[in-house]
Amino acid sequence: MKIAVVEGDGIGHEVIPPTRDLLGILRPDFEFFEVEAGYGKWQRTGQAITDDDIAMLRDAGAILFGAITTPPARDYQSVILRIRKELDLYANVRPVKGNRVNLIVVRENTEGLYSGVEKIEQDSACTVRCITRKGSERISRYACMLAARRHTLTIGHKANILKSDVFFRDICVAEAQKAGVPVRECYIDALCLDILLHPDQYDVIVTTNMFGDILSDVAAYLVGGLGLLPSANIGEKFALFEPVHGSAPDIAGRDLANPIAAMRSGSMLLAHLGDHEAAMLVDQAIEQVLLKGIMTRDLGGTAGTRDFARAVREELERLARNR
Ligand code: NAI
Ligand code: MG
Repeated sequence: MKIAVVEGDGIGHEVIPPTRDLLGILRPDFEFFEVEAGYGKWQRTGQAITDDDIAMLRDAGAILFGAITTPPARDYQSVILRIRKELDLYANVRPVKGNRVNLIVVRENTEGLYSGVEKIEQDSACTVRCITRKGSERISRYACMLAARRHTLTIGHKANILKSDVFFRDICVAEAQKAGVPVRECYIDALCLDILLHPDQYDVIVTTNMFGDILSDVAAYLVGGLGLLPSANIGEKFALFEPVHGSAPDIAGRDLANPIAAMRSGSMLLAHLGDHEAAMLVDQAIEQVLLKGIMTRDLGGTAGTRDFARAVREELERLARNR
């Protein structure tokens, strides 16, 4: 099985290599290959990602992705948005798990405000929010599939203001009714507050692209911050796994990044490929290390990225030997 690895920029270089190591321990059959993309590449070559890079990604059974720094150029197209679009990774699945919290944000990943239909002119700028029937149906079906195994589906929207969200909401409700999934709806701004106040009342939340982006960072507050949240980007043919966080230039290169979000994304990659046992071992190894009180600074500990990652690797090796 070929696994593409895109470290990207910033802390991507610190959190992705130890994650790849964990996968390699559990799956010696994985053939990893590097694809360079991001701001660093853009500075060096003028292109953040090329058509050849995209072709290489298409050649992989799964993609492990770090994060990319957005270059400060007006005409720049986001690398991760291009990959999501070209590989049609329509479902962005972001589980948020912790004390009293076990919810999943399912974010539509290819359209909405991130469709890329926009322009900047001298005195105005405009971004078009495209919501399609096809896009809304498939994301709500995906969310219903997850909700059927859990419980309720909540639709996050702003249908009191946006006609495009009336359209989105109605399709989600119809799909949930078809699937027999209990459904409720909430205005996205109220939802941002309510998941903080009553996190235990949420199971699966489906929403449009930008709202899902914001909601999942808000939800990170519930479990200890962005250093912990993994995500999957799923399409019909391809799948990419990445931490929810970005390249964190403020802490990059200082051994301060928490690699858990990346490692949990690795666990999601294993589960996606059907290796649920290996996925569980990664999650367990992380839990065991946290229980020992070994933590990075964002969680109030003193461990650096490298020491924390080494502790997880050793724990994983122990668990793998005893299985
Ligand atoms: P960010 O997620 O990189 O950082 C936000 C805050 O969280 C920072 O204070 C950072 O130090 C902290 N943080 C993030 N990950 C952490 C970790 N693993 N351990 C400890 N602390 C962590 O978001 P920001 O600062 O808004 O964006 C930085 C760059 O990343 C920008 O260029 C942005 O465009 C890009 N970005 C890329 C993404 C991607 O490639 N998928 C996603 C989000 C942002
Ligand atoms: Mg984000």
